Amino acid sequence: MSRSQHKIAVIGTGYVGLTTGACLAKLGHYVTCVDIDEAKIAGIKEGQMPIYEEGLAEIVQEGQLSGRLNFTTQLLTTVVDAEFIFLCLPTPPSSDGSADLSAIQSVAKQFKGNLLPGTIVVNKSTVPVNSALMVQDLIGDPTIDVVSNPEFLREGSAVHDFLNPERIVVGCDNPLAGERVGALYLGSQCPVIVTDPVSAESIKYMANAFLAMKISFVNQAADFCDAVGANVVEVMRGLSFDSRIGNTFLSPGPGWGGSCFPKDTRALVSTAQEAQRPMTLIEESMRSNERHISTVTALITKTARDAYGTDARIAILGLSFKARTDDVRESPAIAILEALQKAHSNIVCYDPVAKMADNSSVNRVNSLKEAITGAHVVAILTEWAEFSDLPPIEYAELMAGNTIVDARYVLDPLQFSYVGLTVRSLGRP
Ligand code: UGA
Repeated sequence: MSRSQHKIAVIGTGYVGLTTGACLAKLGHYVTCVDIDEAKIAGIKEGQMPIYEEGLAEIVQEGQLSGRLNFTTQLLTTVVDAEFIFLCLPTPPSSDGSADLSAIQSVAKQFKGNLLPGTIVVNKSTVPVNSALMVQDLIGDPTIDVVSNPEFLREGSAVHDFLNPERIVVGCDNPLAGERVGALYLGSQCPVIVTDPVSAESIKYMANAFLAMKISFVNQAADFCDAVGANVVEVMRGLSFDSRIGNTFLSPGPGWGGSCFPKDTRALVSTAQEAQRPMTLIEESMRSNERHISTVTALITKTARDAYGTDARIAILGLSFKARTDDVRESPAIAILEALQKAHSNIVCYDPVAKMADNSSVNRVNSLKEAITGAHVVAILTEWAEFSDLPPIEYAELMAGNTIVDARYVLDPLQFSYVGLTVRSLGRP
């Protein structure tokens, strides 16, 4: 092992932990990933990925073959001689919106008296402010530094984001420990922001809250454009050349969702209320997102009813909260589907990978063409490439109706008009 290679334990093999472990091994470190779920660990060892994430299976296999990436359910034997321990544990929302820290607390308590002096514990998953301090107290050893090193991994491009970070944030009271954590990201050319733990924890929440607010803004703009006859896609393009606004995260859609934005905005709002500094902009962004999901639902319902009544066959394309992931947690597509199911009985869904419970009441088919065959209305709710790759003529030949509600703005209305189809999106005349 060279001086730049380190022995690392990663606790939790969810999408953050598995990506972090596999990528740290790819960077040359010796990594052992720990999870309490025996079936999951056995599956990963046999090459079954618990999540769909581009490039992950390949680097997990590569790491295992190199001998630098291992998986186990044994927590204490793994952490006892680790130089760095990454906590990648779930922090689901409690009933009051605040983050539930029980998984982190349970693991940190087990560390007490079981780590080598000088071990560095890293909080990787999104945790509320003061969590580094809480973990430090639970471990109860002043020689152990607890560092906040939040992840900025987007599902669907998590491996790419880990290996090509735009910034690395490290928060700790001991700058030396912070530098050591920053140095684990060998070869990264991006800025490393070394700050105190509470600021690092706040950076993560503020980043997600800001991005969620940006999408709420874009979706409100779509609604505005719809009312005044403007084209939201052109309007956002017009905004995008202003470097202060930037040219990404400006796509209108059916609303924001996923395992991060809804959870993190709720947690931030809850912390801000506790601190008596309510973040009213974020509160309103959350309400606006709820309203937007209802607006898109109403658009689909109206389109279906106007033309074909409540018996209309509606094909829902896309269930995951965005493309390139199988994650349906807090997916706007699911919320829209559930609302539609209350008024329509003839709904068929298709998504190439979305993970749904086997007992769900959803009539799910296995191909795009099967879904749109005989559909009176098609609604695109996730931006999978295959939906825009299918030529307009094929939609026209297979559909029974002539309207597509494109909530992701991925189809070209002009091209579809040539085959007699109307593409309807909020704020796109
Ligand atoms: C988000 C952040 O982007 C990551 O930086 C962060 O690390 C991660 O949360 C996390 O906290 O772990 P993710 O939840 O994977 O990543 O999803 P995003 O790509 O940010 O999209 C969030 C939602 O906004 C999706 O529903 C997406 O469809 C929607 N969105 C995004 C739009 O409607 N329009 C856009 O232009 C961009």
